[in-house]
Amino acid sequence: MEPNAIADDLVLRRDVGPVALLTLNRPKALNALNQPLLARLAERLREIASDADVRVVVLTGAGEKAFVAGADIAEMADYDPATAQFFALAGQTVLNHIGSLGKPVIAAVNGFALGGGCEVVLACDFAIASQKAKFGLPEVTLGVIPGFGGTQRLARLIGRHNALRWILTGDVHSADEALRLGLVTQVVAPEELLNTALEIAQRIATRGPVALTAARQVVDQGWDVPLADGLRKEAAAFGRLFHSADQKEGMAAFLQKRQAKFIGK
Ligand code: CAA
Repeated sequence: MEPNAIADDLVLRRDVGPVALLTLNRPKALNALNQPLLARLAERLREIASDADVRVVVLTGAGEKAFVAGADIAEMADYDPATAQFFALAGQTVLNHIGSLGKPVIAAVNGFALGGGCEVVLACDFAIASQKAKFGLPEVTLGVIPGFGGTQRLARLIGRHNALRWILTGDVHSADEALRLGLVTQVVAPEELLNTALEIAQRIATRGPVALTAARQVVDQGWDVPLADGLRKEAAAFGRLFHSADQKEGMAAFLQKRQAKFIGK
């Protein structure tokens, strides 16, 4: 455990240079997302959003077994419809914040990523999985449907038929299957997972921060609009970057054959 972490903190934070490693920390319940954990994650994201020293985030789960085994079933079991809807909206809001953070977020999936856990993966920029990771949206086995964005983001990512096969069967899938369908970009040995994710994060952290934010925004804004609209957004963002000090520095550094020193402005 990191020296200044509080063991019962539901979301641990450890900074490795410009990379913040967030660990969802409820291992006895396989890191299931209850309201306190979601609130703490929201707090951590707010903290990181306003911390200029953090350029990239890696998100993982505590313990050997799980990334996140879903929303907390014990907490949800007696919800009335209005509370359940509110819970889904609250979870969606937190996961949307991952996307609007303005800094890349990489999921390092160390074990079960089921239900809400799979939805966290879907909300990240991309994901790297351990060979032990398992993915799925098993909500129909509980008589419900995914509520933290799974019905929307999975279909957009892996296509309608594959998404419906996952959602309607509720089956659990291997890391290799997730790789084949594009849900994760890489599968590594369990002991290599964190180092691999942190190494990629460190590399991203050397790139121009303003450009990283713009790239993420434009990809997302173009996700479900006609190509011509997406291309216009790309050109507009490309143009705006020429206001930035980072663009001046990045291009000057190339021409002067030196390493760029970005300031994120
Ligand atoms: N919510 C609450 N507690 C959970 C949980 C969850 N989603 N998943 C696991 N736990 C708890 C178990 O109840 C158990 O607690 P106790 O030790 O107090 O009994 C502990 O974590 C360990 O779990 P298991 O003993 O079940 O471990 P296992 O190795 O036998 O099985 C598993 C692992 C296959 C992941 C199994 O725990 C499981 O199926 N979990 C539920 C997965 C699921 O259905 N997720 C979807 C939730 S609904 C959702 O997420 C809705 C949404 O989209 C918002």
